[in-house]
Amino acid sequence: MTTTNKFLEKIKHHRGSKKEEKFSGCLEDYLQLLETNKDIAILAHKRLYDQILSHGLTTLDESDHRCNKIFDGEDVKVYDYFASQFFGMARPLEKVMRFLRSAAMRGEESRQVLLLLGPVGAGKSALVEHIKGALEQCTAAYVLEGCPIREEPLHLIPRSLREDFAATYGVRIEGDLCPVCRHRLINEFDGDYTKFPITQSSFSVRGRKGVGVVPPMDPNTQDTSLLIGSEDISKLDLYPEDDPRVLSLNGAFNVGNRGIVEFVEVFKNEIEFLHTMITATQEKNVPSPGKQAMIYFDGVILAHCNEAEWNKFKSEHTNEAILDRIVRVNVPYTLEFEQEVKIYKKLIDRSDFESHIAPHTLEVAAMFAVLSRLKSSNKVDPLTKMKIYNGEEIVEKGLIKKVDIKDLREEVEDEGMTGISTRFVMKAIDAALSDSTKNMITPISIRDALVKQVKEQVVNADDRKVYLQFLQKTLHEEYLSILEKEITKAFVTAYEEQAESLFNNYLDHAEAYVNNTKVKDRVTNEEMEADEKFLQTIEEQIGIKGSSKNNFRADITSYMFAKLRRGETIDWRSYGPLREAIEHKLVASVRDISRIVTKSKSRDVKQQKKFNAMVKTLMDDYGYNEDSAEEVIKFASNNLWRDS
Ligand SMILES: Nc1ncnc2c1ncn2[C@@H]1O[C@H](COP(=O)(O)OP(=O)(O)O)[C@@H](O)[C@H]1O
Ligand SMILES: [Mg+2]
Repeated sequence: MTTTNKFLEKIKHHRGSKKEEKFSGCLEDYLQLLETNKDIAILAHKRLYDQILSHGLTTLDESDHRCNKIFDGEDVKVYDYFASQFFGMARPLEKVMRFLRSAAMRGEESRQVLLLLGPVGAGKSALVEHIKGALEQCTAAYVLEGCPIREEPLHLIPRSLREDFAATYGVRIEGDLCPVCRHRLINEFDGDYTKFPITQSSFSVRGRKGVGVVPPMDPNTQDTSLLIGSEDISKLDLYPEDDPRVLSLNGAFNVGNRGIVEFVEVFKNEIEFLHTMITATQEKNVPSPGKQAMIYFDGVILAHCNEAEWNKFKSEHTNEAILDRIVRVNVPYTLEFEQEVKIYKKLIDRSDFESHIAPHTLEVAAMFAVLSRLKSSNKVDPLTKMKIYNGEEIVEKGLIKKVDIKDLREEVEDEGMTGISTRFVMKAIDAALSDSTKNMITPISIRDALVKQVKEQVVNADDRKVYLQFLQKTLHEEYLSILEKEITKAFVTAYEEQAESLFNNYLDHAEAYVNNTKVKDRVTNEEMEADEKFLQTIEEQIGIKGSSKNNFRADITSYMFAKLRRGETIDWRSYGPLREAIEHKLVASVRDISRIVTKSKSRDVKQQKKFNAMVKTLMDDYGYNEDSAEEVIKFASNNLWRDS
């Protein structure tokens, strides 16, 4: 089979699967269905809520470290429908879902606008798109055939029967026939509503079925027909003026009936323009174009805007009526840099990006973004605050520093509503890549690109200064310390033997010191005193000085021998602090080798071999490629191990 034939098969299959039996009947058939499944007549908020929820809901519980460290042990609901695409947004998402849940139960929220408020690039538009996507997955709604607003068939039931109906079916009917269907009922079916045909219609964003979008409008071209439709001038000749057949019900509130109406950057619009929105929420009705009666509207109204527009809007008290109709959910930037990294990864995955990304590159960029978003604290420095917000434990001088994340949060208001956006960083990633001759980006090149971009694009001088400080100082040092640890680890892996022999020697001498005995040389069997100088060269690596050495040596000795007694094996990794000291000690040799290899032109074969071993470990175990490994080693030797 040729490729095209294969694909044609797929098309055939796809079309077949789409052609599910569409319901076709009249009121009697619909009521039969309703009797067994009340959900076919649900209102818009509930339909949407149920659909999102159907994907699953879990709770971050206490066993998750993020729950304890970041959310202070409080439950965090995680909605599966959002979890794979939105990161660091758990709280705003909970609020959105809380709104939908109350609205689904026909609470006051069902008569409110949900406003997402946040800085540019915080994911508001993406979130609304995703919510609209959920609507598209819903089973097709039952609608009056030919109805321009795809209305609920139960609108056929006369008011006088509705109480009875509610008692019989347990379904409360809201809303009345639209003018078009009413006209048809009278003229075509002689008022016999049991004859009105009913069908099913699915939801589609692109097809404008159940989704109406209102972009921000220029005041001069603002026209309510965008919201509520218009009268079709070409038909005005055919029908009398008040005949509903002249109506073109194609405004956002018409097509969004039963689904969602979205207001993009809502407060860029003039107030007059927004009055329809208010009527829609207050009365669940929208005006009809021309002289017709109001038209029932059932839909979720989602709006979004940024803070500047919101503040301007809020400050005018003529807007109070509207404010009263708004449930606001703040959508700040994420302040967890590991979640921010996930956003970059998502965006990179969606692009054609195929270059090498060296380890820590995205982390460094994300750290910068988060630092720029934090408000300063009186308790900790920005970097520490950033780490605490990321759920990390802060260890200082061997002790865990107790800073309560809640205290830090309470110090400030509205954090995450300013600073560097995701898009800003994505642009820097692109720039770093196009500057690269080796088709890769590294923490070093991303930082350069960010510096350049801050200089060019950040207008506010104070911000610019602070951002440059973060990049050129705070993160420079932080990255060096990450790098130092990594290179050390890579080197230690390549030099397992050396580490092991340092460990054995240390243990022998420490034991002799503690027990006041002699050390027996492992090779010559010669007896000698504990080598105080040697012990100290190890201990000083982790800042153990003076009398604290006694405890340290005693602790290690008893720890190791207890392990041995239990028949466990010990090696140089067995005891955390000692392991760290040995690593530090080994680093000295890393410095020497790197310095020699990167600086001198005539590379000594033996040194070169060691250097290659280190590069290889960085590649095999840490995700570097040859170019990026060489670049970071060079960077380390220029910055960490400068000859002083
Ligand atoms: N917390 C987040 N999780 C996942 N993606 C995000 C997040 N914040 C922003 N994004 C992504 O960043 C891009 C810009 O967001 P966008 O929705 O246009 O922002 P806004 O409408 O708030 O200005 C989108 O592609 C979006 O998917
Ligand atoms: Mg947007």
